[in-house]
Amino acid sequence: MTERIRLHKFLAASGVASRRAAEKMIADGKVKVNGNVITTVGFSINPLADKIEVNGKIIQPKGSRQYYLLYKTAGTLTSVKDPHGRQTVIDLLPFKDVFPVGRLDLDTEGLLLLTDDGDLAYRLTHPRFKVKKKYLVLVKGKPGEEKLALLRSGIKLEEGFVSPALVQLLSTHGNKSSLHLTIHEGKKRQIKRMFAVIGHPVIFLKRIGYAFLTLQDLKPGEYRALTRAEVLRLKKMVGLKC
Ligand code: URA
Repeated sequence: MTERIRLHKFLAASGVASRRAAEKMIADGKVKVNGNVITTVGFSINPLADKIEVNGKIIQPKGSRQYYLLYKTAGTLTSVKDPHGRQTVIDLLPFKDVFPVGRLDLDTEGLLLLTDDGDLAYRLTHPRFKVKKKYLVLVKGKPGEEKLALLRSGIKLEEGFVSPALVQLLSTHGNKSSLHLTIHEGKKRQIKRMFAVIGHPVIFLKRIGYAFLTLQDLKPGEYRALTRAEVLRLKKMVGLKC
């Protein structure tokens, strides 16, 4: 459960003003929550998920780390900025001071974590910690058991062998098959290259799981803040003190 907090308390705790002055700012219509002017002094917010602005400036909770789970859309870049002005994953979030944990290709959609917690991001993406990432993969043709066995035993890419994957063929329709694939590494275009090696090019790729996290009922482009319990569980998984 994410904790809710009164707007004026949040503003005071974030160093914007004293509680009394913050109450006045709210009453004067200077504060927006998710783009709407709020003049109710007792209004309560979710400091991790709501976008709070005072006179047009976004206010961050003081001293706290940010952790988001985003449903990245295909066509959105996994980077903080793009010199060519294309949409990045940061453009889908209200808070800008975070960075993506690992990356998904431009045409890959699905679960992406973003944070400003460098220690956690480093460990989640380091193969040593074996954090599992689960994908829904649509490929050309129907990979036979011997091809799936290659993925399960760890096939060779240009840079060497990748770790064994968990693979499950879900269905075949026409000349396409869908599979679930779970890996813990994050080499560049790893899944596309793995399926290319076995002769079944990837047509569609979506990340559906990251450690114990799933997209649940998020729609493409939507995000949510991780709960405190989820952050603690992730930290514990990679040996970080909570
Ligand atoms: N593997 C890929 O090939 N692409 C991704 O975006 C993620 C994993």
